[in-house]
Amino acid sequence: MSGSSDAVEYLESLALFEEDIYLPRKNLVVPQAERSPKSLRVLNGAVEPLPESLSAFEKQICECTRCELGKTRTKFVFGDGSQHARIVFVGEAPGHDEDHTGIPFVGRAGQLLNEMLAEIGLDRKEVYICNTLKCRPPGNRDPLPSEKETCRPYLRTQLSLISPDIVVCLGKHAANELLGTDEPMKDLRGRVIPWEGMQLLVTYHPAYFLRNMTQKVHGDADFKLLRKLYDQLP
Ligand code: URA
Repeated sequence: MSGSSDAVEYLESLALFEEDIYLPRKNLVVPQAERSPKSLRVLNGAVEPLPESLSAFEKQICECTRCELGKTRTKFVFGDGSQHARIVFVGEAPGHDEDHTGIPFVGRAGQLLNEMLAEIGLDRKEVYICNTLKCRPPGNRDPLPSEKETCRPYLRTQLSLISPDIVVCLGKHAANELLGTDEPMKDLRGRVIPWEGMQLLVTYHPAYFLRNMTQKVHGDADFKLLRKLYDQLP
């Protein structure tokens, strides 16, 4: 028996006894040209004409001052990851650390998100991460409805360019923004919601788990569901 089939057999035997061991898996970053044309879509409200790439789009909007947050931000926080990612995470808005680095989810909540991804055998580099707002609300206050509306075309354009198979809403602001519902988180989470031809999952924001670690069991269950959906992708 070869070394690599030994390794697979060993992993499989572990998986029989330990449900949290994940087997080697397919690539999470798949160029759009290699995906079914049906899975590529332009969302209503995306910027038209659709920019040619995420990086071109970032250049186009990174000096945005369409709302007051453009005057108070340190850095514009566009998003992080590959245009070819099959999973996109959408958070609320940049916080202090993100405002200083220009990268989403790099503070404590981001560290926890990285850990939760690792727990289901995924790596942050293989997914795309962004927010409903691209600029930090002062003092981390909640996004205003007018700010969400102004930023809406940006998120919808990102999602159109990436055309992921799975979108994960981190927290109620992201869920409300994409689903347009005020249903409580406890009713939204743990379900696979068909949305614009994609599969959408809602889970609590990692910052919520930092405040209430006992609730992380729900996040763990939601991430396991994410891993299951991902394993079922064609
Ligand atoms: N919280 C968010 O919602 N987004 C970030 O980028 C960081 C913290």
